[in-house]
Amino acid sequence: MEWTDLVILLAVALLFRLWWRYWSVTGGGAKNLPPGPPGWPLVGNLFQVILQGKHFIFVVRDLRAKYGPIFTMQMGQRTLIVVTSPELIHEALVQKGPLFASRPADSPIRLLFSVGKCAINSAEYGPLWRSLRRNLVTELINPTRIRQCSWIRNWAIENHMKRLHQRSSEEGFVEVMSSCRQTICSILICLCFGAKISEEWIKEIECILKEVMLITSPKLPDFLPLLTPLFRGQVQAAKELRRRQLDSLVPLIRDRRAFVESGGSKNSSPRSEMVSDIGAAYVDSLFQLAPPGRGKLGEEEIVTLCSETISAGTDTSATTVEWAMHRLVTNQEIQEKLYKEIVDLVGKNGEITEKDVENMPYLVAIVKETFRRHPPSHFVLSHASTKETELGGYTIPADASVEFYTEWITKDPSLWEDPNEFRPERFLIGDGVDVDITGVKGAKMLPFGAGRRICPAWTLGTLHIHLLLARMVQAFKWLPIPDNPPDPTETYAFTVVMKNPLKAIILPRNKV
Ligand code: HEM
Repeated sequence: MEWTDLVILLAVALLFRLWWRYWSVTGGGAKNLPPGPPGWPLVGNLFQVILQGKHFIFVVRDLRAKYGPIFTMQMGQRTLIVVTSPELIHEALVQKGPLFASRPADSPIRLLFSVGKCAINSAEYGPLWRSLRRNLVTELINPTRIRQCSWIRNWAIENHMKRLHQRSSEEGFVEVMSSCRQTICSILICLCFGAKISEEWIKEIECILKEVMLITSPKLPDFLPLLTPLFRGQVQAAKELRRRQLDSLVPLIRDRRAFVESGGSKNSSPRSEMVSDIGAAYVDSLFQLAPPGRGKLGEEEIVTLCSETISAGTDTSATTVEWAMHRLVTNQEIQEKLYKEIVDLVGKNGEITEKDVENMPYLVAIVKETFRRHPPSHFVLSHASTKETELGGYTIPADASVEFYTEWITKDPSLWEDPNEFRPERFLIGDGVDVDITGVKGAKMLPFGAGRRICPAWTLGTLHIHLLLARMVQAFKWLPIPDNPPDPTETYAFTVVMKNPLKAIILPRNKV
């Protein structure tokens, strides 16, 4: 080898080294990405994260301590920008709302369930998203429709109370989460399809939705698409699950369409009883909708949009009720204070209406404190910027996933006094009084996100939680099981749930 060859070889090696150092931190993209851990060739930080064997949340906490409030993780071919400080979260979601309002690319499996991003949560920021979201808000969440459908909540919560009675007399205790899931799911199914259906059918829909959440959660090929062929089995399983989802919901859509087309006269099918007036079910609006770029929606798209509503509203609310009940079971003083508020307003046996819960400040404070102390999700959904932009002095490329770690701010001692304590009173007098949970005024707690992509149904979700809690505490005194006390260990499912679901003894108040 001549000395010139040696020089060239050394120069190439040096260049490769420099390129690699740069790529491993920046993903080879924009030059001024937020800092982050150096990664390995091709896979970036992906295997470093996997090999740590910790939940992603704990990896993020460690990286935050090292790199500060905004950092980059190169996960295979995906660049993740993680944002953790209240100031930067507010700047991105509210002040620069439209810029950060898009969603990143989806995996083939997620595209299968969203029929190519035809769902509010996954649609890119643009006319399709606007049309779908506007339709949901006007058809499902507007105050008139919420009032018009209050009988659905009454019917479902009455069944809920009967079920609690029955389970308690059969087993001596009740399990909170499974019962609440079933009740909220039945409310949302009725809101979507205007129909009452059998308990078995509700359970089947609920079970399929859970499986969909699992199969659509991030997997290796989402980060390294070149591995997709090795995961053919999963794609096949996803197609099979999608078929089951269609089989479980298309009959409801067809029954409803027949009901609407007959002007409301074809009211009974052996499998579904149409109970909402024409126009009052969410699906009625979807029959008419022709969003830009899609035209009239087919059955596949309608299944996707109704499933999205049911799954977005079930676990989030049921988890919150479970955590709130956990606090009431383990702190009888809080429970009795709430019971007193209920009795003072409506009496021991008076009916609690939807108007009443707005006039129960302590109930509202308990729910807010539950959202703060046990936010159903630690991150909002993944965001993406609509074009290359800037945040915290760094470049945010358009194709990166931007992850907002909102749970962090609810534990920040500079924002909250004794942040780990559960103290509803802080929302009556104290550091929670002026908090805006929609995040417009500032990011102190954001259980529903903030800005353009804020949960469009947060008022409805909160109403379900308020009603369930108020009725459950009015009817029963909730006590821990002496040899099986509540265990507050968390686990990360679609939401952050109790690892060992809450079980409690219930005593009818009129017998206490
Ligand atoms: C306690 C109950 C609920 C909580 C804590 C909750 C929380 C959230 C959060 C954190 C997001 C993501 C925001 C973001 O990406 O920035 C979201 C989005 C969404 N939620 Fe909720 N939610 C609840 C109830 C509901 C209900 C009852 C429905 C439907 C009836 C619903 C429908 C949606 C939809 C469609 C989106 C996507 C919005 C978009 O991308 O524009 N949620 N929710």
